[in-house]
Amino acid sequence: MLSEKELEIYRRVGRIAAEVREEVRRMVKPGELLLNIAETAEELIRSKGAQPAFPCNVSVNAVAAHYSPPADDKSRIQEGDVVKVDIGAHIDGYIADTAFTVAVGGKNQEIAEAVEQVLEKAIGMVKPGVNVGEIGATIEEAAKVAGFRPIENLTGHELARWDLHAGITIPNVKEESEQTVKEGDVLALEPFITNGAGEVEDQPETYIFRFIGVRPVQRRMSLKVLQDISRLYRSLPFAERWLAKRMSRIRLQLTLRDLINAGAIRPYHVLKEREDGLVAQAEHTLIVTKDGCEVTTR
Ligand code: CO
Repeated sequence: MLSEKELEIYRRVGRIAAEVREEVRRMVKPGELLLNIAETAEELIRSKGAQPAFPCNVSVNAVAAHYSPPADDKSRIQEGDVVKVDIGAHIDGYIADTAFTVAVGGKNQEIAEAVEQVLEKAIGMVKPGVNVGEIGATIEEAAKVAGFRPIENLTGHELARWDLHAGITIPNVKEESEQTVKEGDVLALEPFITNGAGEVEDQPETYIFRFIGVRPVQRRMSLKVLQDISRLYRSLPFAERWLAKRMSRIRLQLTLRDLINAGAIRPYHVLKEREDGLVAQAEHTLIVTKDGCEVTTR
């Protein structure tokens, strides 16, 4: 169970994430740099007294998640794009995680609206004793009624202090599961829906990483960078871009490669819909209460 103090921090960081989400939503317009959206979101989080819990993801069309623009990214929002922005903030390791979709110009409005409704249905299910598979079934059903498919290999997740993906996972499809939610759990529900196959695949590109542990590395430079990563981000994901100011791109990529090969950090691959379908996402963080839940990111 959470203490009063922990509850208070979860509420505070939830409000910050929600404010940032609404400010950044207005930026998703034709011509805007994806990089500018991500950096503005992260800067707003800091200016409000929290820290990014992970690099801001700005994922467009068939890209479902894990695209956080690198430092030299030139890509811009275009008319007709389906843009997902996923924002994480933390205070002292207590995390709020929230995401939205904009159908730029309104052409793909249907999928963007549908995923919000799917999320609300899922939130309506949450109370102590509910099996996570039932929440998945609700998401799947609501997505299908709206004419879309849920993405079956992406899930919602439990949040714990300094841990973005703690114990429980919440499927986006009906599933046999042993896991039930209980009072005091902090959960991020994040349905993804698509007009494609309903499955994402790893792309070669990686822009987001996470510290795993100190391991023997090839280069001295790598060890120094690893120590900084561990101190600055602990076990939370970080962006290649966040390290870009300290060395050249080539050198940074060699260093990250060295750390991945040593098993000291892990990469998160960009995730793309298998049939290049459009993907929409909505996400809120909530705390399970005695008879329902309290959404911290409204
Ligand atoms: Co999440």
